[in-house]
Amino acid sequence: MSGTSKIAAIDGSTETTPPPKFTGELDVHYISYGSEKESSYLPAIRQLISKDLSEPYSIYVYRYFLYQWGDLCFMALDGESNALLGVIVCKLEPHRGGPLRGYIAMLATRSEYRGRGIATKLVRLAVEKMIEKDADEIALETEVTNTPSLRIYENLGFLRTKRLHRYYLNGSTAFRLLLYLKPGIPFKPTFPPDFPAEYGEGHGQISQDGQASEDDQRVERQEARMGEEENMYEERLDVTGH
Ligand SMILES: CC(C)(COP(=O)(O)OP(=O)(O)OC[C@H]1O[C@@H](n2cnc3c(N)ncnc32)[C@H](O)[C@@H]1OP(=O)(O)O)[C@@H](O)C(=O)NCCC(=O)NCCS
Repeated sequence: MSGTSKIAAIDGSTETTPPPKFTGELDVHYISYGSEKESSYLPAIRQLISKDLSEPYSIYVYRYFLYQWGDLCFMALDGESNALLGVIVCKLEPHRGGPLRGYIAMLATRSEYRGRGIATKLVRLAVEKMIEKDADEIALETEVTNTPSLRIYENLGFLRTKRLHRYYLNGSTAFRLLLYLKPGIPFKPTFPPDFPAEYGEGHGQISQDGQASEDDQRVERQEARMGEEENMYEERLDVTGH
């Protein structure tokens, strides 16, 4: 999400007694999410993602992404049982009046199946779909200590553009990673919320040392929170039919 809606860190290192690794031959198929799959897969998606979160997302957060960008969300399923082994949840929209930005909001693989390339494949599928939809860039945040996650993204060409100090509610720090898909995109102007275009020249872009200014981070957090609340509010209105 632009700025980001991340409420809590996904931390691959939090498990104390991981279940034994699955070592057999893997038969995995990959499908995109569709609303017709909600009843079969949304509970499993929530369970898989919340397992590694420091606090759970509400159902509205999942629906916010899955209703609008289900075609950008992919699931890895066991070939025989159709059990959910991995999932990636994304969105795509203009970023502050500038580039069309894809955003990877959630990524997780069941712990027994990690290290077998599932997440890499899910990220590739999402990236390809975003390219097909004319994305200019793709962004995400991940904890600075999440080595598997950093490896996946950096292997695919994502760059560390900001270090977001104490970014998550649990106090941990994140990197913002970006994959530029078209030439000149890093130089395309963006505008902070609530300000006209002329204010925005140069604002919100990557600083020379790759660090986000405190102002920048504050604006992004505010924007994210406002967006989150607005979206949840809209969802609730929809549900009650008002
Ligand atoms: C991050 C996560 C999605 C990776 O899933 P996965 O299916 O195991 O990922 P892959 O098998 O495709 O690739 C993992 C990469 O990390 C590397 N890796 C895995 N465990 C590692 C470790 N402990 N230390 C260093 N590298 C590690 C792998 O070697 C591989 O890199 P390579 O292709 O260069 O060899 C998974 O660990 C997870 O669900 N973690 C909890 C949720 C999370 O952290 N999500 C990301 C938040 S942005």
